[in-house]
Amino acid sequence: SATLRWGVPRPRAAKRVIVAQAGAGSYKVAILGAAGGVGEPLSLLIKMSPLVSALHLYDIATVNGVTADLSHCNTPVEVAGFTGKEELAGSLAGADVVVITAGVPRKPGMTLDDLFSTNAGIVKELVEAVADHAPGALIHIITNPVNSTVPIAAEVLKWKGAYDPRKLFGVTTLGVVRANAFVAATKGLPLADVDVPVVGGHAGTTIVPLLSKARPKAAFTDEEVEELTARVQNAGTEVVEAKAGAGSATLSMAYAAARFLEASLRGLDGDADVYECAYVQSQVVPELPFFASRVKLGREGVEEVVGSELRGLSEYEARALEALKPQLKASIDKGIALVQQQQ
Ligand code: NAD
Ligand code: LMR
Repeated sequence: SATLRWGVPRPRAAKRVIVAQAGAGSYKVAILGAAGGVGEPLSLLIKMSPLVSALHLYDIATVNGVTADLSHCNTPVEVAGFTGKEELAGSLAGADVVVITAGVPRKPGMTLDDLFSTNAGIVKELVEAVADHAPGALIHIITNPVNSTVPIAAEVLKWKGAYDPRKLFGVTTLGVVRANAFVAATKGLPLADVDVPVVGGHAGTTIVPLLSKARPKAAFTDEEVEELTARVQNAGTEVVEAKAGAGSATLSMAYAAARFLEASLRGLDGDADVYECAYVQSQVVPELPFFASRVKLGREGVEEVVGSELRGLSEYEARALEALKPQLKASIDKGIALVQQQQ
């Protein structure tokens, strides 16, 4: 319950301890890049998760401070820190889910593709280690450019003989979180009720919120569709500019990643009807081997890629979907080529 998660004292303390232990989770999560702007608040949110038993924090920078700090929160999740490449294998041992958020963020004036040259190598190196030390784990990739880093991860895993497409995800939940927030504000709807599928990829115009499929059903004017779509597509840049050189979205990203992690763990746990949008290997758009759409999450990761939200699109959405194809395909091919050239 929310009370146990936050560790809020109850009147009868002795009973509280027993209930908290009975409710302790059983999943082990490793965060790679845990000392970063996304990694730190994400670690805090996972420390509060009732589904998690152990949280491993890994970074090339020291994680000793974050580990000590978090370990004082009176929630049952055990926290352990791993600093430097020699401790990477240890951080991955026994992980059910590995979240990769290591890598550089944007500064004003940069595109996500400008991060490719630095972050591709980081993701490649980390996914190799996951293949060696946590081969059955779900992998959640946050590191940008997600449109390319996920295909890179897939190629590395294939090369290592450890690729299971059901277990590899590009985390696009932030697009959904933003679309929900912006639509609720525009239409005056209760935040908790709004659910907007966001498909395509995770960079600029490859991000397509499907307002015609928003729940609850709402009528949008053409101007609203254009404004809301552009705002979701440019929301990352909005934060980069507001932070003025101090990085990109960290808090909203941590929130979104925690939401996606919770959904994945509920799927692993056997909960029925767990759906989230994510960037996965897919055949819903035949020319795009990776595509973000709604997926059903289950005991082995992706149980089903649900392409049905792509049927019956508005004309505006159908055009946006057609227009994103060349850019997304180029980003996918760039990632695949990088790994294949190096083999
Ligand atoms: P940051 O610079 O604050 O943190 C990155 C961390 O990665 C640092 O602690 C750094 O030491 C660590 N790191 C670098 N190389 C490493 C390696 N080889 N092994 C382990 N750790 C390593 O950046 P941030 O704000 O946390 O952003 C991280 C990444 O997440 C960026 O690429 C950013 O673009 C991306 N991001 C994605 C989304 C999304 O929606 N998918 C949203 C926000 C940020
Ligand atoms: C975001 O959507 O905020 C992230 O992908 C980070 C960025 O630089 O856009």
